[in-house]
Amino acid sequence: MASPSRSGVFAEATDQRLEAYAESISFDSRLYEQDIRGSIAHADMLQSVGLISETEFTQIREQLEVIRGRLDRGELPLRFELEDIHMHVEQALIDATGDVGRKLHTARSRNDQVSTDVRMWVRESLDQIDALLLDLQRAFLSRCDADFDVILPAYTHLQRAQPVLAPHYWLAYIEKFQRDRERVADCRKRVNQCPLGIAAVAGTTLPIDRRHTAQSLGFEGITANSLDTSSDRDFVLESTFVLSMIASHLSGWAEEWILWSTVEFDFIQIPQQFCTGSSIMPQKVNPDTLELTRGKSARVMGSLQTLMLLVKNLPLAYNRDLQEDKPPMFDAFDTTRAMLELATPIVAGATLKRKSIAARIEKGYLDATTLMEWMIQKGMPQRTAHHLVGAIVGEAMKREVPLAELPIDELSRLSDGQIDASVMDVLGTQNAVAAFRSEGSTAPDRVREQIKVWTERLFN
Ligand code: ARG
Repeated sequence: MASPSRSGVFAEATDQRLEAYAESISFDSRLYEQDIRGSIAHADMLQSVGLISETEFTQIREQLEVIRGRLDRGELPLRFELEDIHMHVEQALIDATGDVGRKLHTARSRNDQVSTDVRMWVRESLDQIDALLLDLQRAFLSRCDADFDVILPAYTHLQRAQPVLAPHYWLAYIEKFQRDRERVADCRKRVNQCPLGIAAVAGTTLPIDRRHTAQSLGFEGITANSLDTSSDRDFVLESTFVLSMIASHLSGWAEEWILWSTVEFDFIQIPQQFCTGSSIMPQKVNPDTLELTRGKSARVMGSLQTLMLLVKNLPLAYNRDLQEDKPPMFDAFDTTRAMLELATPIVAGATLKRKSIAARIEKGYLDATTLMEWMIQKGMPQRTAHHLVGAIVGEAMKREVPLAELPIDELSRLSDGQIDASVMDVLGTQNAVAAFRSEGSTAPDRVREQIKVWTERLFN
């Protein structure tokens, strides 16, 4: 069968190699639901402005619903010569209704049709991503009260830095995923503009009503310039960037928990349902899910790269290159969705290894900065205090003891009598955590306050 897009200008049939090369049905068939909704809205608009009759509209709508059912059940044969989902739907309509179906494509091009379908698909997919991010944030938040008694080392350069409450970690991830959700919402605004009616590239001479279709498809407004719209894939790139940020956050978290689950750290146990064994080493419980999360994030970022390169040299307006946007876009969404779906139960089900954490929490001089600030409060200049505490830590290292176990006499000697027994109030990780006070810090009251704020935001 000849392609419906091959007009009378063609005297020769398409080379079969081109058909296989140019088809997109193998990946865009998943847009069928959006395509049918878009076509019904378009036909409704054509009827409202008198370009088709009411009976014609009814016939088109009913038949499109039949076709939707056939596609739902996988009963519509998919053929390369019909190229894409848009032509499959239209051809099935023409097969069923003849000339009535031949009117559907009035004042429409596949250029605006594809963009409309993809925008609807992306809009729904962004909403799913947002819901999955919320689930993940809730999983982190739900741990906060139960883990409040645990102190963990905060790291810089992956070296022990200062002590923090475990919920301070969980809240850190909640913040990152909140920014991701804000990016999703912001990007959704630009996705949610209706291109339908720009037709191929310059608009149409026919008396259409673009706002009618935009409204019935739930778009916020219509795109302003037909030339821009015909070429525009910013919304695909932007959403893939948003997904890449999410993937980057997930990958960093996965890496952290992989480290934390080693014997060397021994901070956390990943739920066994999400671990795998080894075919040779019987003792192994491997964090494969997290490794795959770290690995799959590369695919999402790779998709962004593909899309950037795809569009960067395109003159206005539509170019067939744009068909290649769909595989990376679908893959980025599918991969991010899967990563999020697995992250949530892992966060909810992981167990902190309290004993093992506590056994080594006094190692690494996490309270050194607190001691320095204690000296500053006594009136010592920061640089002097920094130098002095360095010397005290050096002495403690020599004796292989934590700061709190240095004799007061020794502390007094090293500080020319400026340190007395009251220093014990800030030494040791427990005291050091309690000494924090600034906003955004790990001070227990601040953390409690943040848990309250986030409970309001995420659960009400
Ligand atoms: N299958 C194509 C796509 O998904 C549609 C091509 C429409 N436009 C064109 N002028 N050939 O992008």
